Amino acid sequence: MTPGHIEFPVIGAKWFIGLTALSHIVVASLAIGFAFIVTAAQIVGYLTRDRSYDLVAKQVQLLHVCVYNIGTIVAVGFIFGLSGLFPQFWSQLFVHQFWTLMLEELLFFMLATTLSLHYFFWDRLWGHKKMHIFLGALLTPFFLLQFYLINGIGSFMLTPGFAEGQASLSQGILGWDKQAFYNPSFLMLTLHRAFVNFSYGGFMVAGLCGWQLFKKHPESVAGAYEKTGRLSFTLGFMAFLTLPVIGYFYAHVLKYEANEAFVNLMWGRGDIIAGGIDWWWIKHLAVAAIFGMTMNYFWRRRREQQDLLSVPGVMVASISLFYLMFYLAMGMIMTYAFFWWMVFTAVGGALLARHLLHYHGGSPRALFTTVAIFSLLTVVLGGYAREASRPRFIDRISHYDSIYVPHERQPYLMLPIGPDEIPAPPAAPAETPEPVRLIRQKCIGCHTLERVKNYRAADWQLIVAQMQAYGLRLSTAEAAMIVNYLESGEPY
Ligand code: HEC
Repeated sequence: MTPGHIEFPVIGAKWFIGLTALSHIVVASLAIGFAFIVTAAQIVGYLTRDRSYDLVAKQVQLLHVCVYNIGTIVAVGFIFGLSGLFPQFWSQLFVHQFWTLMLEELLFFMLATTLSLHYFFWDRLWGHKKMHIFLGALLTPFFLLQFYLINGIGSFMLTPGFAEGQASLSQGILGWDKQAFYNPSFLMLTLHRAFVNFSYGGFMVAGLCGWQLFKKHPESVAGAYEKTGRLSFTLGFMAFLTLPVIGYFYAHVLKYEANEAFVNLMWGRGDIIAGGIDWWWIKHLAVAAIFGMTMNYFWRRRREQQDLLSVPGVMVASISLFYLMFYLAMGMIMTYAFFWWMVFTAVGGALLARHLLHYHGGSPRALFTTVAIFSLLTVVLGGYAREASRPRFIDRISHYDSIYVPHERQPYLMLPIGPDEIPAPPAAPAETPEPVRLIRQKCIGCHTLERVKNYRAADWQLIVAQMQAYGLRLSTAEAAMIVNYLESGEPY
């Protein structure tokens, strides 16, 4: 039997989409974070007249160029996979959001050109530093806008925002569906992802600096890595702190707008569990470990007055208390076992940080690389949890269920149904009768058809003659046809 649709070898269609989507998320999120950190480091370098920030920023931007290219290519593979493996789904989505995706494409173009110019003209623009920084700073709003657009489509898959069957094209194909775009979870997804990316970018740049500190470098270069590493670690941490607050309200929206996803996440149902492991828990364990590690880091540095980035001890303590309350609240929703696991992991993270800092003679190199690895883990698992928890789109909205095959092709598919069962194409609409066409065309010049339909008397001969007197041009044959038809009382 010839299959009715394309099947992906070995991993299957679902996992092909899953893997390409996840790899895209990993590199694309990194691109956004990198853009933000590069600008921050360049500005700090400019203000403090310290070249070391700029040197590291340039290296990060080189990595960003590579990551950006890879992320874009993976996205293309993802879209190819989606449109070939789930054509009905993709074409529906594409028709709803044509203009959104076209704008997204325009932004890809702007980003690619701006990023290339910013990196490749780094030295040439040395004398125009403010302009160069501005060029790099453009990347962050471009990315955020691109993000904003794609999140409308991403959150639509979680909370479509209308009842089944409403996603109709009753207004004609506009390529834009406002209700679908500004759906209930759109805002929370956008906020959460934006801050995740800043946090992830900050921790990753710090991790790269930490990695460099393992190598032998002249003292000034090592100093540059250390300074930039500390700056981006602090920025990453600041963004990281917002996440439980945003995440809490995000969960609240899901509870009412995508209850199945909420239940899957909170109580480990559905695809959240794979291979007997609750991946949402693992993600939170990684978050708690990051939290413990960062807290220890800032606690140790609280007294370093000369460091702009040191945080007062009382702030470290109150942030810890806040997190404790957050996990308690989560424990009340999930299970208290969750609460205890998080507390132990956070304490374990703090102890690990203490050991790593101590072992490396106070250098944060091992701590920064460890946090970077954990942060990568949370992004991958967070992306997985989001997609695995949501109710399958296919079963929810009937328009998206089957693969669309044009009628004239169906006989060649050898589907497991007999040729008799192939539904007939919809009958062509009957020809509009000539008098109806004439009435619709001729009688709307000066008033609407309502005027004609509301007329209760039957003296059509007279009426039509009157209309001709008012200026309507009709041949004798046409006038007779109209009068006959109106007298017959048939609809028009
Ligand atoms: C050249 C302009 C014009 C065209 C074209 C036209 N009408 Fe009229 N129609 C009028 C005017 C003017 C009136 C009178 C409006 C009023 O008295 O308020 C009117 C009024 C009518 C009325 C209401 C008469 C009443 O006494 O309430 C009917 C019925 C009507 N038109 C039928 C037709 C039909 C059928 C056609 C097409 C064959 C047509 N009209 C095309 C100008 C036109």
